[in-house]
Amino acid sequence: MIIDGLSLIYPNGVKAIDKMSLNISQGIFGLLGPNGAGKSSLMKTLVGLQKPSSGQVLFNNVDIIRDPDHIKRTLGYLPQEFGVLPKANAFQLLEHLAILKGIKDKSFRKLHINYLLREVNLDQHASREVYTFSGGMRQRFGLAQALLGNPQFIVVDEPTAGLDPEERNRINGILSKIGQQRIVLLSTHLVEDVYQLCAEMAILHSGKLKITGSPKELIKALEGKIWARPAASDEAEIPDFSSVMIRKNFIGGESWITVFSENRPDGFQLQKPTLEDFYFCSIKNLI
Ligand SMILES: Nc1ncnc2c1ncn2[C@@H]1O[C@H](COP(=O)(O)OP(=O)(O)O)[C@@H](O)[C@H]1O
Ligand SMILES: [Mg+2]
Repeated sequence: MIIDGLSLIYPNGVKAIDKMSLNISQGIFGLLGPNGAGKSSLMKTLVGLQKPSSGQVLFNNVDIIRDPDHIKRTLGYLPQEFGVLPKANAFQLLEHLAILKGIKDKSFRKLHINYLLREVNLDQHASREVYTFSGGMRQRFGLAQALLGNPQFIVVDEPTAGLDPEERNRINGILSKIGQQRIVLLSTHLVEDVYQLCAEMAILHSGKLKITGSPKELIKALEGKIWARPAASDEAEIPDFSSVMIRKNFIGGESWITVFSENRPDGFQLQKPTLEDFYFCSIKNLI
C-alpha cells in the first residue's frame, strides 16, 4: 500500500491526518501513537470508510479513494470499537458477515468459518452469543471476522487495548501468525506490542508521521544517550540543561528519572535504550 500526501480535516476543523506519506509492504507494520494521534482516523481512511481531504492511497495499483469498493472487497478490518448483534452466536455472526463479504458457497463458508474459529481459539464457543464474550474473546472474534475471505491485507486498530496480560499475549500470538503470510497494519498505544510484533513501525503524533523504521534500528540510534538515576519522589524536573528528561517512572516503588543526553549528566548511569525511550524522545522532538 502506498500512502501519498494524505490529509484529513474533520468538519469541526480537527486536522486528524497531516500530509502523511508511507509505504506498507510486508509483515506486521506497527503504528504507534498516543490517544488522539490519528491512528483510527488513518485506518478508517485506508479501509475506505471515510474520504480524505487530500492525498492518494494506492493498493494493488488501484486508487482506493476513487474506488473504495476495491479495498473493501480485498481487505480485513478490525475496528477499535464494534457492535455485535444481540442473540447471534459466534458462528451465526461470522456467517452473516461472510455472506456480506460475498462468500456464496454454503459448504465452503462453513468450513472456512470453522477454520477461522479454530485459528482464534474460539471453536469451543462457536454457539455462544458474542455479546456474552469477555473483552479478549470479543477481540479474537473480531480477528476471525477480519480474516473472512482470506484477505492479504489486514488492518487492526488497538486490538489489545484494555486486555489482561494473558489475553494480550494470545492476541499477539494470533497476530504474529497472521503476519507470516499477510500484510498487517496494527495500531496501538502500547510500545511493547510493537516491539514484540513489528519488523517495521511508524510513530504518529498530532496527525503527523514522526518517524518510520525498524524498532531495532531506531533503538540503536539512542545507544550511549539514555541515562537514569533514582529520584526524589517530589522531583519533577531536572535543573540540568545539557540533558532532557524523557520520563519519570517507578521501579519496585522507587522513583527513577530517565534523560536523553549526548554526555553523561552528573550522578546518572548509562542505560540500554528501549523502544519506549525512543518513543518518548520522538514525541518530545528530541530526535
Ligand atoms: N468523527 C470525528 N469528528 C471530529 N473529530 C474527530 C473525529 N474522529 C476523531 N476526531 C479527532 O481526531 C483526532 C484523532 O483521533 P483518532 O483518529 O481517534 O486518534 P487515535 O485513534 O490515535 O486515538 C482527535 O483529536 C479526535 O478528537
Ligand atoms: Mg484510535
